[in-house]
Amino acid sequence: MSFNQNPNSELNQSVVIGPREVEVPESLIGEAIEFRNEMMKYSCAIRELKTKLEVLNDELSVRNQRNPIEMIRSRVKKPQSIFEKLKRRGLPVTVESMRENLDDIAGVRVICSFIDDIYDVSRMLARQDDIRVIAIKDYIRSPKVNGYRSYHMILEVPVFFSNCKQYIRAEVQIRTIAMDFWASLDHQLKYKKEMTEEEAAEIGEELRRCAEVIAGTDWKMLEIRRKIEDQEQMKEYDINKGREKVV
Ligand code: GTP
Ligand code: MG
Repeated sequence: MSFNQNPNSELNQSVVIGPREVEVPESLIGEAIEFRNEMMKYSCAIRELKTKLEVLNDELSVRNQRNPIEMIRSRVKKPQSIFEKLKRRGLPVTVESMRENLDDIAGVRVICSFIDDIYDVSRMLARQDDIRVIAIKDYIRSPKVNGYRSYHMILEVPVFFSNCKQYIRAEVQIRTIAMDFWASLDHQLKYKKEMTEEEAAEIGEELRRCAEVIAGTDWKMLEIRRKIEDQEQMKEYDINKGREKVV
C-alpha cells in the first residue's frame, strides 16, 4: 500500500499491520480459535517489549551519545516447534499447557554493543514497575560448558486488550554482537549431524576455545571504550579549568 504524502505535512503515517494467519497444529485443531488468539497475544507482548527497549535505547543514546542497542530481533515460536517441544517434554498438547509450560513462545533478542550495556539494559527493563521478572539466567557470568554466553530474562509484560489486562510471558536474550556471532555459527553447526563422536568432540572443543577468544575481545573492547571516555573526560575537565582561570 502506498500513501500520497504531502511533503509539507508534519504528520507521519504508517500502515497498521494486522495479525498474520496462524497455522494450527493438527492436535490443537479443537482449540483453533483459542490457539490463534493466544498467538496474537504473544505477538502483542513482543511489540510492548520492543517499544520499551527502543525507548531505553533512545534515552541512553541522547545521554551517552552512543547506542547501547545495536539491533532487536524477535519472533513468535512456530506452531510446529511449540507442538514438538511439548511432545519432547512429555507435556499435554493443549493451549493451557503451552501457556503454563513454555517460556519462550514470545522471544526477543537484543544485540548490544558492549558487555556493560547488557547489564544496564536488563536492569532498566527489570525495574520498570509493570514488568514481572520470572527468572534470570546469566550465561555471561556462568557460561555454558560449550562456551555459550548470553543474558536471559524470562519476563511477563502486561498487554491491554478490549476488556482486560493480561500478563504475557516472554524470553528476552541479551548479548553482544560478538556473542551473537558465536551463537549463530554454533546454531548452524548443530544441524550438521554427519559427524563421528570423536569429530564432534573435537569441533566442540574448538568452538569452546573460540567462545573464550571472543569473550576476551568483548572485555578488551569495553576496556578501550572506557579508556576513550576517561580521556574525553580529562580533556573536558582541563577545558573547564582553563575557563575558570580566565574568569
Ligand atoms: P530450551 O528448551 O532450548 O528453551 O532450553 P532452556 O529452557 O533450558 O533454556 P536455555 O536458557 O538453556 O536456552 C534458551 C535459548 O537460549 C535456546 O532456545 C537458544 O535460543 C539459546 N541457547 C541456549 N544454549 C545455547 C547454545 O548452546 N547455543 C546456541 N546457539 N544457543 C543457545
Ligand atoms: Mg528456548
